[in-house]
Amino acid sequence: MTVGTQELLLSRIRDVPDYPKPGVVFKDITPLLADFEAFTAMTDALAELCVRHGATKIVGLEARGFILAAPAAVRAGLGFIPVRKAGKLPGATLSQAYELEYGSAEIEVHAEDLSAGDRVMVIDDVLATGGTAGASLELIRRAGADVAGVAVLMELGFLGGRTRLEPALRGAPLEAL
Ligand code: PRP
Repeated sequence: MTVGTQELLLSRIRDVPDYPKPGVVFKDITPLLADFEAFTAMTDALAELCVRHGATKIVGLEARGFILAAPAAVRAGLGFIPVRKAGKLPGATLSQAYELEYGSAEIEVHAEDLSAGDRVMVIDDVLATGGTAGASLELIRRAGADVAGVAVLMELGFLGGRTRLEPALRGAPLEAL
């Protein structure tokens, strides 16, 4: 991806101070999604990473991750698998709990969507603490599949997500556009 493309994407991410609570600066990607040129550039870059790292399937993380992962999957010519918050998938699921700053959360995937021989790229909008992405890697491996990598639009480096995710990556790449 060129520096020009990176600058285009950055210019379409809006900082919203004190949202959702005082002291937090929310990274709003809706201006990027509303701009066809930027949305296409992001989709192409994510799809290129999936192909480069030999992915055979793409996992998107609910909810904003779906918006990035689904078009990237189509562009890369790969199937899309939703990892959802607990209780949303109708079939037999694998579940993975993980810690939040306060409390815990749980994500799920349809067990039949992943199996041995699959090489999975996880796509999300933001890597913050790395908890959500880390739990998704656990799900993928418990299903018997391999991890091709994790690709996000933004990495909030000051939260240390890359360091926290490192053991779960087991050498697989973490790519941030
Ligand atoms: C956000 C974001 C990532 C996750 C990153 O999802 O979209 O999935 O948090 O945080 P972490 O690295 O600390 O786990 P969230 O569930 O807040 O919102 P969404 O459903 O709107 O995507």
